[in-house]
Amino acid sequence: MLIREELLQEHAAIADVTAKAFANMEHSDQTEPAIIARLREAGALSLSLVGIDRGDVVGHAAFSSVTIDEADQGWFGLGPVSVRPDRQRQGIGGLLIRRGLSELRARGAGGCVVLGDPAYYQRFGFENDEALRYVDAPSQFFMRLSFVDKVPAGRVRYHPAFGGDSGQ
Ligand SMILES: CC(C)(COP(=O)(O)OP(=O)(O)OC[C@H]1O[C@@H](n2cnc3c(N)ncnc32)[C@H](O)[C@@H]1OP(=O)(O)O)[C@@H](O)C(=O)NCCC(=O)NCCS
Repeated sequence: MLIREELLQEHAAIADVTAKAFANMEHSDQTEPAIIARLREAGALSLSLVGIDRGDVVGHAAFSSVTIDEADQGWFGLGPVSVRPDRQRQGIGGLLIRRGLSELRARGAGGCVVLGDPAYYQRFGFENDEALRYVDAPSQFFMRLSFVDKVPAGRVRYHPAFGGDSGQ
């Protein structure tokens, strides 16, 4: 399994893997491939990692800047993250997420937030934090992983590419 940044010619394969991964997800409105495309178009796809197996894209993780109380504080949001359905539960998602987080750290990021199932994301060190708020989802699904001692407080917003008022 090779994990690296996306290449130009992999955009369609990333959209395909993302669409397939989210196809039957109850919490999804199937807009994830469009979100990635909009982030890319806006120059806001800060980190876009692919998992490559025998030349095929089998997984993908996107990271983009978030604001906290309307300010860029060097924090990022993880997502969408996808693994092709026939390759799930083989550790690929974990590899992509760990690589992404260590790359953000290396770039001097303050931390990362994620909206998702705590049962999955806690293993990477994500945790709930009442002081870092996301208003459009129940608070138990919103988690943060800080790389710095002084964790900022405030309302988190994703890039407008996620759609909606405050972003999803
Ligand atoms: C979530 C996802 C990216 C994880 O990738 P993966 O390669 O399957 O995950 P890994 O192999 O690294 O980890 C597998 C472990 O995570 C658990 N897991 C996977 N998805 C989970 C989920 N949504 N909730 C809770 N646990 C989950 C599995 O139970 C497994 O744990 P186990 O080994 O103890 O049984 C992948 O399942 C996926 O694409 N899902 C559909 C899209 C999606 O929901 N994306 C995340 C949106 S927040």
